[in-house]
Amino acid sequence: MKTVLITGTSSGIGRAAVLTFQREGWNVIATMRSPEKETELHQLDNVLVTRLDVLDNATILNTVEQGLDRFGQIDVLVNNAGYAVFGTFEMTAEHQTQNMFDTNLFGPMRVLKAVLPHFRNQKSGTVINITSMGGRVTFPACSLYHATKFALEGFTESLAYELLPFNIHAKIVEPGSTATRFVESAQVTQDTITEYSEFVKIGFANWAKNDTMTSTAEQIAAVIYTAATDENDRLRYKAGEDTQLYFQKRQSENDQEYVDYMRQRFIPELLNGSTTLSM
Ligand SMILES: NC(=O)c1ccc[n+]([C@@H]2O[C@H](COP(=O)([O-])OP(=O)(O)OC[C@H]3O[C@@H](n4cnc5c(N)ncnc54)[C@H](OP(=O)(O)O)[C@@H]3O)[C@@H](O)[C@H]2O)c1
Repeated sequence: MKTVLITGTSSGIGRAAVLTFQREGWNVIATMRSPEKETELHQLDNVLVTRLDVLDNATILNTVEQGLDRFGQIDVLVNNAGYAVFGTFEMTAEHQTQNMFDTNLFGPMRVLKAVLPHFRNQKSGTVINITSMGGRVTFPACSLYHATKFALEGFTESLAYELLPFNIHAKIVEPGSTATRFVESAQVTQDTITEYSEFVKIGFANWAKNDTMTSTAEQIAAVIYTAATDENDRLRYKAGEDTQLYFQKRQSENDQEYVDYMRQRFIPELLNGSTTLSM
């Protein structure tokens, strides 16, 4: 019986992934920051719920130890925990930048470092890093989040070279827009610089207007499950109908054509001098 360790399972994609793997007969180490609040996952067969904050190495090491004690091995790590900061860069506080990278990039790195010795000893393992379509294309007023997800993409792509000789697979799952707590959990920067107000209003309004192909957490979990079980060397798995649109544009057009398309889609009112930001 195989075992998966998943981060950020209190809600959304992580939680749906726990239920998917458990239903498919896996042992699941379901990790979260506040396991004392959990009422459902404790009840499931072959699910171990542990406290793991990706910012806290002691909780990571403790989880890996508990997981190995209970199930004897870990076959797959799903680095899912993450959040977003929305707003323009100039309005973000230093601590928001630090925390964003600490959670979305250094967090997955910390958890992987704790699991890798075990993967190397057993000469097998798969790490699946949950990035985003926002790890390959960008939207307005979201630069910090994109920075973390682009970084996690590059990290994972390079990591895959060094792990393949050990029969360890590094994979990337890129969800599109998904109905979870993600937007309500996001930090929104203080609107401290009024010159950006119009940009933010237009950017978010067009984002909401164009954001119509939302997936469910269960659909993304199904892609994660495929990545964990298809037993091949594939690196990237896009997840969600909206990823097709943006990735197809990104790949089929030259760089400037693609950039122009995205600007027309998200800030048309601010292009060609039709509206200028009040300075
Ligand atoms: N939803 C989308 O549209 C979307 C699109 C692309 C990519 N993604 C990615 O998908 C992943 C899951 O997000 P979601 O949509 O399922 O959102 P979600 O429902 O807000 O779930 C995020 C999870 O991450 C956990 N988390 C946050 N900081 C953590 C930390 N320091 N240590 C451990 N856990 C932490 C949260 O735990 P708490 O309950 O303790 O806060 C929560 O369980 C994220 O990496 C996100 O970037 C989401």
